[in-house]
Amino acid sequence: MYTKAAQQYDFKVKEDLLNQLPFLFDHSLTDKSLDELLMQYYIFHHYGLTLHQKTKQLQRKNRYFPLNMIDIRNLKQDQELIARELYQQELNQTEYFIKQISKYHQLSGQRVLDIGAGSGGMSFYLTENFHCQTTMLNLSKEQVKLLKRIITLKKIAGKANVVAGNMNALSSIRLATTKFDLILQNETDMYITSLSNFLANIGKLLSADGCYATISWYKTRESQNIKNIDRYYFTAMKNLEYFRGELIDQNFKIIQEIDLTEYAKPYWYLRNTFQHAKGFVEAEFIGGLENGSLKYQLIIAKKNGVR
Ligand SMILES: C[S@@+](CC[C@H](N)C(=O)[O-])C[C@H]1O[C@@H](n2cnc3c(N)ncnc32)[C@H](O)[C@@H]1O
Repeated sequence: MYTKAAQQYDFKVKEDLLNQLPFLFDHSLTDKSLDELLMQYYIFHHYGLTLHQKTKQLQRKNRYFPLNMIDIRNLKQDQELIARELYQQELNQTEYFIKQISKYHQLSGQRVLDIGAGSGGMSFYLTENFHCQTTMLNLSKEQVKLLKRIITLKKIAGKANVVAGNMNALSSIRLATTKFDLILQNETDMYITSLSNFLANIGKLLSADGCYATISWYKTRESQNIKNIDRYYFTAMKNLEYFRGELIDQNFKIIQEIDLTEYAKPYWYLRNTFQHAKGFVEAEFIGGLENGSLKYQLIIAKKNGVR
């Protein structure tokens, strides 16, 4: 089944990235220029964290410029600053997520399943810094192609692999291994259709002391903001209480939860005032974050009975 969500992602990739691919796939690229190009693509793949010094300066100047996968080479200096800031916040989120997981689960050499891998930010970081064997699952055919090319460019074939498939049909997907030590989701819970089936499958794929970690957007109640975000992204955001309950019902023990809502707000304010932002979804996120119906939450769980 090819969902609307995946079509939307392929559309984004096609429209916003593919015309840059000749640069991306130029084998004469140095690592630095590869990073520069990936940066253009990574932005807006998940959402950033942390209010750090540069953001504060930009806020003081009241000159916000969120970016929507545009070519940073054509940006004026201050816009480029904002682009880099948003990218930095997305990197912060990835590093923060991995650091939190590492407190509860040793990462070195682990077999990792990254569900809804996007352009591979989490997986490449784990492969390159922790020698993990990563499997990136992604429904988007265009992103799967992109991930394969990045693996080739980074020369990490055999350490990282890509599987095209639907997270809602996990039990029928042929994966690189039958068990994983770490299964993670970075902002992809909202694509799950049946949470109980999904978590039951995660439980089967996890090794005995395996770890399941997720950062996602959750609702605390219904609101127009939530409805509009779901409509915009073709998603089904989960209620946080319901998510916790399903984890427990599926025999998981929650070992850490961190509410990141406050740390996510600056990203949306920054993005909302950029001249290239469409503004619609940004306003809905800000509305939901401010009225408390939307939460940004990190959850780490293990199978019950395991510390
Ligand atoms: C918000 S992006 C997150 C990407 C990545 N995890 C990150 O943090 O950068 C959502 C990703 O989930 C993928 N996706 C959406 N629905 C999916 C499904 N049913 N099965 C597998 N992947 C899916 C999309 O193609 C996209 O790559």
